[in-house]
Amino acid sequence: MTKRITTVNEMKAIIQTLKREQKQIGFVPTMGALHEGHLTMVRASLRNHDITVVSIFVNPLQFGPNEDFDAYPRDIESDQAKLEPLGVDYVFYPSVEEMYPQPLAISLKVNRMAEVLEGSKRPGHFDGVVTVVNKLFNIIRPDYAYFGKKDAQQLAIIEKMVDEFNHPIEIIGIDTIREADGLAKSSRNVYLTAQERKEAIHLYQSLKKAEEMYDAGERNSRKLIDMIRDHLTTNTSGTIEDIAVSSYPELVEQKEITGQIFISLAVKFSRARLIDNIIIKGENHD
Ligand code: PAJ
Repeated sequence: MTKRITTVNEMKAIIQTLKREQKQIGFVPTMGALHEGHLTMVRASLRNHDITVVSIFVNPLQFGPNEDFDAYPRDIESDQAKLEPLGVDYVFYPSVEEMYPQPLAISLKVNRMAEVLEGSKRPGHFDGVVTVVNKLFNIIRPDYAYFGKKDAQQLAIIEKMVDEFNHPIEIIGIDTIREADGLAKSSRNVYLTAQERKEAIHLYQSLKKAEEMYDAGERNSRKLIDMIRDHLTTNTSGTIEDIAVSSYPELVEQKEITGQIFISLAVKFSRARLIDNIIIKGENHD
């Protein structure tokens, strides 16, 4: 039975008991509208730890004023029905008032790592992410927490936060889960029109083509970016918001590719803004 917990106090009391029983806790934070990407992390946690907690909370702090907070898909019953058969122990499902009873007096701010890529397009987004994840970590006190490489910048920032703020938590990054045609699974894919859904496969296809160019010896980032831009312009109706080649997890723009490399892009369709990325291990990496 998956127990649904809606208050911070009840969740903390349960965690306190579990800690006393020396249970190892795995945690999967989400905003709901669960799909195979989320469920892959959930299954890994269930396999690896005594107790699995999944949080479902659409966090207003990480949405910009013109973003889709109100429209974000919410369906707790259908989400819980996906978690129940897997054997998830707890779903933490607080309201906004429960998480933020009043405006926060203290804010967390992500510095350099939020000034690039998604952070530069979505001001304040990663501040909102680290704020809610800090609160969730302090409520759930997990031993392990799972994050997807689909949101690779988020994963890098959370790993840095855990390191700098001394959270006794091991972060586990999970590979991007895709549809059969390569589109990265996302709660936002439901916003795509039928035509855009067809076009959206080209995000990953352009990244794969860049990987092929890299494998064939290309080390000039500009060449890869130009090819991706051409591919997306030719094959999609979306607006390209960003294409970048960076180091990972440092997130520093790379003109000439040396070590491990992170190619990321963001494309805005009529109602859905999609992101995707690949990480290519360089010659000098294991
Ligand atoms: P959400 O978008 O619901 O994603 C929850 C987790 O699922 C994130 O770690 C994300 O990277 C991962 N994920 C999403 N799509 C994936 C895919 N196709 N393959 C693998 N993993 C995938 O990310 C958030 O929520 C929020 O920012 C959150 C961390 C919960 C804080 O509010």
